[in-house]
Amino acid sequence: VQEIKVGLMGLGTVGSGVVRLVERHQEDLWNQTGCTITIEKALVRDKQKERAVRLPEGVLTDKPEELLHHDGIDIVVEVMGGIEPTRGYIRQALETGKHVVTANKDLMALHGAELLSVAAKNHCDVFYEASVAGGIPILRALVEGFSSDRITRMVGIVNGTTNFILSEMKKNGMAFEDALAEAQRLGYAEADPTADVDGWDAARKMAILATLGFHTEWPLDEVKVRGIGDVTLEDVRFAGQLGYTLKLVGIARQDEGKVEVSVQPALLPDEHPLSSVDGVYNAVYVHGEAVGETMFYGPGAGELPTATAVVSDLVTVVKNQKLGVNGRSVVAPYREHKPKAPAD
Ligand code: NDP
Ligand code: HSE
Repeated sequence: VQEIKVGLMGLGTVGSGVVRLVERHQEDLWNQTGCTITIEKALVRDKQKERAVRLPEGVLTDKPEELLHHDGIDIVVEVMGGIEPTRGYIRQALETGKHVVTANKDLMALHGAELLSVAAKNHCDVFYEASVAGGIPILRALVEGFSSDRITRMVGIVNGTTNFILSEMKKNGMAFEDALAEAQRLGYAEADPTADVDGWDAARKMAILATLGFHTEWPLDEVKVRGIGDVTLEDVRFAGQLGYTLKLVGIARQDEGKVEVSVQPALLPDEHPLSSVDGVYNAVYVHGEAVGETMFYGPGAGELPTATAVVSDLVTVVKNQKLGVNGRSVVAPYREHKPKAPAD
């Protein structure tokens, strides 16, 4: 049996989910890969902090080099968030031949092309399914499922926190601040929740969707963004009385070579399919020229749903290692796929 050693960067909401899932589903993971997956090191800021999951003695570290310079670690799972020092850590991991799985949309929306290029040069994988719409495998669907089609439009509720807030305001009359505090308590919100509220988290996700769906590198600063910071309980109630539901919606469209991507609050008729997407759930409508209309729905944030996306990427990397290949169209359809020697 081959043992795959993972370096986990971050042991917060998503990191804890990854530990739980790898433990809980070890047998299923083995059945698919023929490998046991072990968390060899877990990087945190504060080793003394109370943790939701327990790890064996010596696994927890606050020294990035213990993980990044560890020869036995094959794959780094980055779930600590932020741009720096995370970007530097991921670069170091790739430059020393470690594959990377990340949930970090901030980083992928801003520096995805750079990291994918470092990965390609070093014959490594970077997978980031969890970065968009949590537990919905939308990146796989876009690049693998629709590789034969031409996508023209994507419309999505891609931020769980704001959708939770708007749903609580509408259904339970909860105040904006109280709903936000509850989303934070449940682990849905970003470390800085203004990224959720002001629409930036959704904008990062829409930039990633546009990049993958339209086979173009769509820069974040080309996304028009308006959040829900100025939405009041009155607005939500008034819209409800008129038969409308207020949602934070991302729209990406491609028409005759022109691409447009935006995020904004929108009033949707109550009978619109996106109106019934409540709480932390996300939904992405994808229109393809050949396939027509499709819809993807599921939990968009939270510990275990997000961990399913992370661990699925991990399984793909392990399978790739066994086959001696890198990459999958989901990360870089345009790059060279250079075979690497099989791991065993
Ligand atoms: P948390 O804040 O819960 O956890 C972050 C973890 O990273 C903590 O364990 C923290 O250590 C550690 N960490 C942060 N910065 C450093 C650093 N500089 N050095 C060492 N360790 C560090 O975040 P989440 O788990 O919620 O999110 C993680 C990532 O996943 C983010 O990129 C987020 O955008 C993304 N994501 C989150 C989802 C969610 O539902 N929460 C869903 C999809 C993606 P310590 O515990 O000691 O403070
Ligand atoms: N803060 C994000 C959200 C986490 O609420 O959707 C999932 O990406």
